[in-house]
Amino acid sequence: MNNIPGKILFDRHEIDRRVNELAEEIGHDYTGKDMVVVGILKVAFMFFADLIRRLPNQPAIDFARLASYGSDSTGSGSVEIRKDIEISIEGRDVLIIEDIIDTGITVNAFIEQLKKRRPRSLRVCTLLDKRERREVELPVDYAGFIIDGGFVVGYGLDYDEKYRCLPDIYILDEERLSGGGL
Ligand code: IMP
Ligand code: MG
Repeated sequence: MNNIPGKILFDRHEIDRRVNELAEEIGHDYTGKDMVVVGILKVAFMFFADLIRRLPNQPAIDFARLASYGSDSTGSGSVEIRKDIEISIEGRDVLIIEDIIDTGITVNAFIEQLKKRRPRSLRVCTLLDKRERREVELPVDYAGFIIDGGFVVGYGLDYDEKYRCLPDIYILDEERLSGGGL
């Protein structure tokens, strides 16, 4: 079937269970804190919505949109903040929510920007962690699943803006990758 991008890696039930566990752990860690949850658009919108509605903390929320250029294999790609967060994070406990961290360059550049605004703490939560592909030192505080190679889509993740709305996570079939380089 043409709408199925490949083999399922994590189905909606596995995702659901893991998001529950993460919410429990995070909820516990942030008890009594002035928490701000920052979602990275567009990718994290689905995971973000599922996670925050299970947090007992009633955090403030905001979004950022990042664009990275030339982040091929050199580790020196530049990252532009296309849409910045709008609320103040000074003295507050900030948790960044990403769907997937690959080289780490994008989130790392964003963290450097946020640090200048003097949050009390700054942590990172990602649903998927391609840890072995990391090119910068980036501590991930909460990771849903650690995965190795392959390009994944669904549950917010896209390939060329496709497949974001699928409720499960798939490994994209090789023949759907055009032009190589992924
Ligand atoms: P990084 O700067 O290399 O960590 O890039 C992370 C960004 O690349 C993510 O926010 C995604 O937008 C994108 N990305 C990396 N790997 C994948 C994947 O397997 N599927 C979909 N998007 C991905
Ligand atoms: Mg993308």
